[in-house]
Amino acid sequence: MKVIKTVADFWAAQRGYPRPLGLVPTMGYLHEGHLSLVRRCWEDNSTAVASIFVNPTQFGPSEDLSTYPRDMEGDLAKLEAEGVDLIFAPDASEMYPDGFDTTIDVGSIAQRLEGEHRPGHFQGVATVVCKLLTIVRPDNVYFGQKDAQQCLVIKRLNADLDLGAEVVVMPTVRDPNGLALSSRNAYLSDEDREAALSLHRALKLAESRYEDGVRDATMMRREMLALLESEPSASIEYVSVADAETLVELNSIERPALVSMAVRIGKVRLIDNIVLES
Ligand code: PAF
Repeated sequence: MKVIKTVADFWAAQRGYPRPLGLVPTMGYLHEGHLSLVRRCWEDNSTAVASIFVNPTQFGPSEDLSTYPRDMEGDLAKLEAEGVDLIFAPDASEMYPDGFDTTIDVGSIAQRLEGEHRPGHFQGVATVVCKLLTIVRPDNVYFGQKDAQQCLVIKRLNADLDLGAEVVVMPTVRDPNGLALSSRNAYLSDEDREAALSLHRALKLAESRYEDGVRDATMMRREMLALLESEPSASIEYVSVADAETLVELNSIERPALVSMAVRIGKVRLIDNIVLES
């Protein structure tokens, strides 16, 4: 496994590796969710590349860039064990050298939900993913459904700018209690982890109401909010029942719906979602 830090070295190193080539973009601190992407990458491709880059431009000024969990040594060991061929792990100055002055704004899909609550976040994501796709030029690129809106934004970006990768979205990986795996779970105390299960409980509630035939999205949101509000350490940013393609809020669920939320448990901001469809 080769670990490469510059674009020029990446371009030199990737020559001769067989196609198709798959890319798993990450910000490191890898967990089973990331590794499920790597395993799928191996099913589809002859060469597997992962990137590790904590992208500063997708963090707001009051967000956790400086404390974002990092473990380069552990990450490399995990990727080596999965047989990954190439790791692209640039420094911020390689990705954003002096004078860097281009950003990518994806339209309406990036303005809702996370976009409303984290201004500038998707501009940072779209810009770095565009750069990664341009540098690595993968045939296939892998993301997790836990970041459902990010997946939609990247699909739009990839289609609109003809970046030419197949965007593959893999299911959310959960711990045995249902907590969606996330690098940010590292911040949760034992008590917080217990409280964080309220997100999964709220999603299960929506799912069971849907299975019972409920299609009233307003009622579903209200019931989920009530459940989350009963958790004292939860502070809710949003609960959404939206069209799974456009993210426009629904009154009635007549087509696939993305049920999603962002909730702070103590200081830790967590997101989770499911798709309801018949
Ligand atoms: O999902 C992530 O880890 C990041 O947002 C990504 C896609 C690697 C871009 O920095």
